[in-house]
Amino acid sequence: TPDAHVERDPRLIRLTGIHPLNCEAPLTALYNQGFLTNEDLHFVRNHGHVPDCLDEDILDWTFTIEGMVERPFTLTVRDLIGKYEQATYPVTLVCAGNRRKEQNMVRKSKGFSWGPAGLSTALWTGVPISDLLSQAKPIRGARYVCFEGADKLPNGYYGTSIKLNWCMSPDRGVMVAHKMNGCTLHKDHGKPVRIIIPGQIGGRSVKWLKRIIVTKEPSDNWYHIYDNRVLPTMITPEASANLPDVWKDEKYAIYDLNVNSATCYPQHDEMLSLDTHAKTYKVRGYAYGGGGRRITRVEVTLDKGRTWRLANIDYPEDAYRNAPDGDTLYGGRMDVWWRETCFCWCFWELDIQISELENSADICIRAMDEGLMTQPRDMYWSVLGMMNNPWFRVAIHKED
Ligand code: MTE
Repeated sequence: TPDAHVERDPRLIRLTGIHPLNCEAPLTALYNQGFLTNEDLHFVRNHGHVPDCLDEDILDWTFTIEGMVERPFTLTVRDLIGKYEQATYPVTLVCAGNRRKEQNMVRKSKGFSWGPAGLSTALWTGVPISDLLSQAKPIRGARYVCFEGADKLPNGYYGTSIKLNWCMSPDRGVMVAHKMNGCTLHKDHGKPVRIIIPGQIGGRSVKWLKRIIVTKEPSDNWYHIYDNRVLPTMITPEASANLPDVWKDEKYAIYDLNVNSATCYPQHDEMLSLDTHAKTYKVRGYAYGGGGRRITRVEVTLDKGRTWRLANIDYPEDAYRNAPDGDTLYGGRMDVWWRETCFCWCFWELDIQISELENSADICIRAMDEGLMTQPRDMYWSVLGMMNNPWFRVAIHKED
């Protein structure tokens, strides 16, 4: 198969057949691994073939910084590693299709069915893109930064763009990464270099990076326009093909992740063995905010939203933020100690009396971020099935 080089955790669930590789971990396996995900269990979202030029010496791989800049230049991976200060920090990547399966169950969207494990966290090492762009000096009128990968797809190379001000702000942590959890990037994750954009949907973090182009307008790449959008809900898969102007309307492009969460225990189809000796069951899962915003509460209801209780939140990312000044990790400067923005998921848990569980039909949860954005009760269905974030509901099954 084209993906024969992939040595991956056999528990990974393939979502689109053999090729291209699109997979997520079983939710409990992901949760059990804790804050950081091993690369062999990290979710993969590939639109097509992994480029087949990756067996050459990766240090000779080049990418350009071009477009509306005073000093365009070409960089080798060797220079990226050797000539710039390196940074290392954890980032949770989330596919905009995370939890799409729930949308597809209501009405089929134009995307395959991700469960709630379309996300993973790794320690990324690389060079802040603000350092590279400062060297290139964007000129007046420049507003966007386009990224293009080396994977040739039916509609051209994969590419997209984000705003220049995000890239220029070191606080945002946009990085040209060459290491993941201390190792050279895995082929599926963009070897030898990729973009990492904390707080934004994974689709903007272009892999197998070949070009960084500073522009006046957003990217006109096919994948920027026809992917990673939330179109108005009345637009159906059938109608959408004839609506190029709607697709091209940049206001429907999605950048920041939205606030979201999932329950990992109990699982959807788990039979709760309500052991009479234990008085409580620990309901637990994950949550994340978007755009660098921190999750400030996770609430749990057993009565469909009439009453809520607060779960305890654990933010392992804080340990990195509180690392001593100058600490290094995997050879990279730890670069989060001064940062207020949140780049990662967090975990929540709540002990619930077994007797209460026995009397309820389901558990629903919702998270809220520091901007008081919360998860809606109802789903916002859209044609690409993206950014699905209503209350996460798990039905309670009881053994007889
Ligand atoms: N970059 C390229 N060149 N080609 C791709 O298919 N997929 C994007 C993004 N970058 C993609 C890409 C999408 S939709 C996501 S969610 C992330 O990569 C997934 O990154 P991962 O496979 O390393 O988890």
